[in-house]
Amino acid sequence: MDKKISFIGVGPGDPDLLTIKALKKIKSADVILWADSLIPKKIINFSHEDSEKIKTSNLTLEKITSIMIERFNEGKTVIRLHDGDPCLYGAVKEQINILKKRNISSEVIPGVSAFQIAAAYHQAELTIPEITQTIILTRAGGRTGMPEKESLKDLARHKSSLCLYLSARHIKSSQKTLLEFYPPETKVIVGYRVSWDDGWTSLIELKDMEKFTLEKGLIRTTIFIVSPAIDSEANRSNLYDPSYKHLFRNK
Ligand SMILES: C[S@@+](CC[C@H](N)C(=O)[O-])C[C@H]1O[C@@H](n2cnc3c(N)ncnc32)[C@H](O)[C@@H]1O
Repeated sequence: MDKKISFIGVGPGDPDLLTIKALKKIKSADVILWADSLIPKKIINFSHEDSEKIKTSNLTLEKITSIMIERFNEGKTVIRLHDGDPCLYGAVKEQINILKKRNISSEVIPGVSAFQIAAAYHQAELTIPEITQTIILTRAGGRTGMPEKESLKDLARHKSSLCLYLSARHIKSSQKTLLEFYPPETKVIVGYRVSWDDGWTSLIELKDMEKFTLEKGLIRTTIFIVSPAIDSEANRSNLYDPSYKHLFRNK
């Protein structure tokens, strides 16, 4: 079998949310590089005693990839752990590109993302027929900046479910922009370190988002889900409507 470096999404924090595939890889890896500021130690504890565990929070991209390449070329099984799902704000592609240039194959194993666990804790369905069928996953600009065509103003116009990652520091301007489009009473799920031992979520209204964020001192590891679908009196879907026939129920 072709050897590969695995980029693994380990979910939002709770080890029980790991996929079986992720767990198997963590248990058998020789070398584990992990984003220690965003992944709890509990997850690393699944690894075997002799594995080499490398924290990446204070390393550069060049250093991380050179360690991966070196160990991989020594014949070791190398895995790189990312919080949540690697496809979201994971800085995973830049690593894959460097490996590709060195003819090293890789694979990505998905994980549960922060918005999913925060929605699950509130039993929220973010796509309710006739309210919204769209979820926008985005962030406030900050140092990374945003492509001009993706300004929060342009995205908020849709009044869909909207999840804000990496945005706690910019909550004042975010709230102001969102209030131009969503009613002030729109429900917002705020989640801090959701599914960690010290994590929590809260259901608030959009008009209180800035005040709440400042009062709680939220700066990092916070997700906001703004949605007209939260707490709505859900309209019934076609899927389970007796008058609606489909492939699996045609009578
Ligand atoms: C670098 S991004 C990575 C996102 C991650 N790949 C994901 O799919 O959730 C980190 C941001 O994700 C959000 N986040 C990740 N884990 C979280 C958690 N357990 N609780 C709340 N927010 C979380 C926060 O907005 C945090 O600032």
